[in-house]
Amino acid sequence: MVGKTVIVGVTGGIAAYKAAELVSSLVKKGLNVHVILTKAALDFITPLTLETLAKNPVLVDEPTGSQGIYVPHIDLALKAELFVVVPATANTIAKIATGIADNLLTSTILATKAPVLLAPSMNVNMYENPITQKNIEFLKSIGFHFIEPEEGFLACGTVGKGRLPAIPVILEEIERLLCLKKDFQGKRVIVTAGGTREAIDPVRYIGNRSSGKMGFAIAKEAYKRGAQVTLIAGNTTVEPPQGVKLIRAFSTEKMRDEVLKVFPDADVVIKAAAVADYKPKTVEQSKIKKGEQNLTIELCPTVDILKELGKIKDKQILVGFAAETDQVAMNAKKKLEEKNLDLLVANDVSKEGAGFEVDTNIVSILYRNGQVEEFPLLTKAEIATLVLDRIAALPRFECQVKES
Ligand code: PMT
Repeated sequence: MVGKTVIVGVTGGIAAYKAAELVSSLVKKGLNVHVILTKAALDFITPLTLETLAKNPVLVDEPTGSQGIYVPHIDLALKAELFVVVPATANTIAKIATGIADNLLTSTILATKAPVLLAPSMNVNMYENPITQKNIEFLKSIGFHFIEPEEGFLACGTVGKGRLPAIPVILEEIERLLCLKKDFQGKRVIVTAGGTREAIDPVRYIGNRSSGKMGFAIAKEAYKRGAQVTLIAGNTTVEPPQGVKLIRAFSTEKMRDEVLKVFPDADVVIKAAAVADYKPKTVEQSKIKKGEQNLTIELCPTVDILKELGKIKDKQILVGFAAETDQVAMNAKKKLEEKNLDLLVANDVSKEGAGFEVDTNIVSILYRNGQVEEFPLLTKAEIATLVLDRIAALPRFECQVKES
């Protein structure tokens, strides 16, 4: 990302003050940042603030008179590697959608070939108005990128969808759009995450401690690298990543159904979910009453989703995770072969800093040819990067690229 040129457009909404934090963060990341304000934005933030943070002159209007051949809207349009409009008001979105170039910001956007990211922020009724939604849908259909506003308390005193997302969320999207590594572009990737729950009665279940962090990190990385990601998640305790298609599946049976629906079109399946191996043989229809006697619940095996995929796979690359506590290498190798996987990521969940709930993991990656790569303690985001690197290096992945 270092050295790339980003143009930040700021329009006249109450969230304009947050543009200062964005500009400052982009500069800290080594980006070359130029800022264009609309006249309405001047009521909310001063050019001096943004100029000081951006370390470049802030523009509001085209210079008039004899300015030589410097034409800002063309110069910046050509220089831009990414355009970000934060916040984007309904008015500016409407102008961009209809090609109205009556200010420096909209005329520069009209003249650029760089990707444009818009972060709408406004009153909930304005956001939900069919006119605004139609403009957004149209812009999306011609390749503009959007960050959905968040729900919450709005400056106008109402509650609803319209808040500018936190700056780190916007930064992530900027990073994704500027990310050079687009090796998963055009790939359809299924990721499973979180833990499944098997009902005992209407209020109780058998579950596990999976937070979803490992699977979410993989889904996020795949999306960042250009994949179309379907994330099928059981029970999780953290926020899912943006930009992916999220499907909830709390039981093993439901997860199986959802995975099978999208499997035929998938290129890569990564199963980081902690799926129950057993479920109660019968589910009680009423809450089991407390008693003095021991209670025995008979369990029966669940369907092994990954094993089933291994039997029917065609072009798909199958990647499993193995959560082990003993004889990790031996057990993992057995799973790789039994489930007909291309790669298996094994984690010894008994080690400190590895496995469930934590932000880190310690994994080894097993290949079909017997090769094993071992890694030290890394963050789950780092592990996601290296798992996707390994998938992209598989000969079968390259064949898929040639076919598409
Ligand atoms: O979510 P976190 O808190 O971040 O924790 C991450 C994790 C520890 C859950 C993750 O790193 C992990 O190890 N996931 C796999 C857990 C697991 O179910 O392991 P397993 O060895 O029981 O299963 C092997 C593989 O078969 C897994 O890919 C699993 O998704 C799949 N499986 C298992 C049983 C089943 N009935 N169907 C399956 O598809």
